[in-house]
Amino acid sequence: MRILSGVQPSGNLHIGNYFGAIRQFVALQRHADNECFYFIADLHAMTTIRDGATLRALSRLVASDYIALGLDPNRSILYRQSDVPEVAELAWMLSTVTPMGLLQRGHSFKDKTAKGIVPNHGLFAYPVLMAADILIVRADKVPVGKDQKQHLEMTRDIAGAFNQAYGGDVLKVPEEMILQDVAVVPGLDGQKMSKSYGNTIEIFAREGELKKRIMSIVTDSTPVEEPKPTRGNTLYALLKLFTPESEWPDTKRCFSEGGTGYGELKKRLLGEVLEQFADARRRHEELLADPGYVESVLREGRERAMATIGAVMADCRRVCGLGW
Ligand code: ADP
Ligand code: TRP
Repeated sequence: MRILSGVQPSGNLHIGNYFGAIRQFVALQRHADNECFYFIADLHAMTTIRDGATLRALSRLVASDYIALGLDPNRSILYRQSDVPEVAELAWMLSTVTPMGLLQRGHSFKDKTAKGIVPNHGLFAYPVLMAADILIVRADKVPVGKDQKQHLEMTRDIAGAFNQAYGGDVLKVPEEMILQDVAVVPGLDGQKMSKSYGNTIEIFAREGELKKRIMSIVTDSTPVEEPKPTRGNTLYALLKLFTPESEWPDTKRCFSEGGTGYGELKKRLLGEVLEQFADARRRHEELLADPGYVESVLREGRERAMATIGAVMADCRRVCGLGW
């Protein structure tokens, strides 16, 4: 099965990104039957980042984050979207068969304009570029969070429109792999953890910063000696994600029986986060000190991706009547 997914390099990765996406990417590459393509969606990030140096630095950082968290260049093809300009070419081809109405119904575009963001063509055409990312490798499955469901439906519609216009089945109609069982990881304030809400716990933050963030998780004012509520309790939800099964009964008891303050529970969470990501954090340090290696992984990823992409693009250009 050919699998493809991407993450925008719009900020440092946080634990919501890990549990909601990267962890699944790592698991999928372990099956010998899967051929996995994971890319850094820097062209997409241009819809929000308007500073070249920042975007370049974030793309490099996300590449290091990916590798440190277990995406293995020997098992997966890791590349940067902008290193494959054919994606933008296919996006243009697809845009000529994409009805305006389809894009006008896009939730993401409607939400952003409703929030007062002045719409530009890039934001409007975002789903076409995303369709190109997927269709250009003839992906079978695309693992994404629920928020991306509509984009996948649009991708299928666009692939269908292209195939209908040019006959046959030049493009593979992909299936989404919505990560159902993945809970939404709450942020420091209890809302969904998201870069855009400033409520994240970044996986690779320095230890002092990590401590500061975890200590600032919003809790209620239940006194130390009393039992603590668990429903809607962010600290409880995060501890549940991180605590090994064997230690969970003990942690749960701290909530149900009282006697343990939130401060102590936060320290416990900090310990678990540091332990769970210890190897990844060490590897991240090494990768940051060796940008040449990360760059070589992306260069090689591009070459490997092009073996597939070159063939798909040749077919697309041929049916469209481009070139000789
Ligand atoms: P952000 O909301 O921080 O900008 P993105 O939209 O870039 O994050 O998300 C990248 C991936 O991480 C997506 O697959 C998304 O579903 C997943 N993800 C992001 N935040 C969370 C969260 N709080 N809980 C679970 N998954 C998340
Ligand atoms: N739109 C996705 C997000 O914001 C990122 C993305 C871009 C993507 N192209 C993709 C995901 C192709 C899967 C497949 O999270």
